[in-house]
Amino acid sequence: MSLTLTLGLDVGTQGTKGVVLDLHTSAVVARAARSYDLLPPAQPGAAEQHPEQWLDAAREVVGELLAHPDVTPSALVALAVSGQQHGLVVLDEHDAVIRPAKLWCDTSTARQAAALSERLGRAVPTGFTASKIAWLAEREPEHWARTRRVLLPHDYLNFVLTGRACMEAGDASGTGCFDPVTRRFEARAVDAVDPRLAECLPELVAPGVLIGEVSAAGAARLGVPAGLPVATGSGDNMMSAFGSGATQPGVAVVSLGTSGTLFAQSAAPVLDPAGLIAPFCDATGAWLPLLCVMNCTGVLEEVRAAFPGSSHDALSEAAAQVAPGSDGLLMLPYLQGERVPDLPHARGALLGLRPGLLRADRLYRAAMEGVSLNLALGAARLRALDVPVNSVRVVGGAARNALWLQILADCLDAPVQRLAEAESAALGAALCAAWSWRRAQGDELSAHELATPCVQLTGEPVRPDVQRVALYAQLRDEFASRTEQLFGLTPSAV
Ligand code: XUL
Repeated sequence: MSLTLTLGLDVGTQGTKGVVLDLHTSAVVARAARSYDLLPPAQPGAAEQHPEQWLDAAREVVGELLAHPDVTPSALVALAVSGQQHGLVVLDEHDAVIRPAKLWCDTSTARQAAALSERLGRAVPTGFTASKIAWLAEREPEHWARTRRVLLPHDYLNFVLTGRACMEAGDASGTGCFDPVTRRFEARAVDAVDPRLAECLPELVAPGVLIGEVSAAGAARLGVPAGLPVATGSGDNMMSAFGSGATQPGVAVVSLGTSGTLFAQSAAPVLDPAGLIAPFCDATGAWLPLLCVMNCTGVLEEVRAAFPGSSHDALSEAAAQVAPGSDGLLMLPYLQGERVPDLPHARGALLGLRPGLLRADRLYRAAMEGVSLNLALGAARLRALDVPVNSVRVVGGAARNALWLQILADCLDAPVQRLAEAESAALGAALCAAWSWRRAQGDELSAHELATPCVQLTGEPVRPDVQRVALYAQLRDEFASRTEQLFGLTPSAV
């Protein structure tokens, strides 16, 4: 059997990761990663990156993957890109990037988001692209006047690779001006953001298609072979769903990364009147109701950085010796402001301090518990919308942390299990490439059939414990009421 490989790239917030997938053995044969930072904030709450940084990192990742001894570049049949959702990339009439991209975690556009929500009569979360465009038109009118194309991060990579500007429903459903039911842009919302936006949006493409081939310019910039077919790709959560087996309803996934997300595939759109659960489309023609919290692994990193010389492994070990509930310490982990609950300007809070509690082990456990309690409130919201969260697959950088898995199982009251490939978005992109390539050859297999042999669970399921579940249910209520006392908002409108 001849070697058949696909390449998946995931352009994230902290770095770009890539994998090469062997379609005959269903195994990842090479992986590579490069990290980068955010730009220093230009305004309070701003979170920006220059798209050139993504291209540089992608080029290095591709270079390392293609040089891997198990990768024969001529055996590659397709490529797809996964990208951090919601980021705003604006191009001028020469297709040059006008300014750095405002990212999903940028809260400087909260005022524009609130105004759009009011105007449209539905929630337009601060992180979604719409408020970033409204902000640009208002605060940098000279940049907006020059804008000819509006793209999302993964669309921009596709554009550089192929020369084709397009969007697909998964990532487009995070713009805030897309109707997830009809899978089309919503003219009223597009117009409300700015009357000129409609002419800057690219064409929409269907799921599971090849959008083009790597051009000579794309090959020169990113080091990928010219002529290689490129599939649609999608936002990182849509690609992560593909790479974690959430390709059929009933499989819930938690991703512990820069953001914390909880999602499951749905055969029909899920519209949350409170706007807490994002009404996303997935990358296979179905839907992906999703909870996203902005404060996740970064909160643990803040605690680690406060204790120079400490490591996450050592802190986790110490925190595992602390009783559930962290001796009464409760952390509201809204360090960067938060999307769910909708508190873009909130700050974190540490409650319940007593003498002797301001210690690394307590703080580290309280951080994990605080993030998990916030995710648990979102899980309750998903369940209230009839999205089952019965057993949970955990992916992302922190999925290997055994203590966090136990806390999650207890907070969510569901067994949790890791996947062999924690970089599920990069794997999902490689699977998306394979799916589109096979469909282009007339092979109508479903995304689920294709993904199943490549998605492996690993380790034993971590089961919830009845007593701890009861304790964390109480703490969840306390977390909600403290948030309300401090910020005037109930975290979940369950
Ligand atoms: C989802 C979201 C984040 C980013 C992270 O709505 O904003 O999960 O996609 O890259």
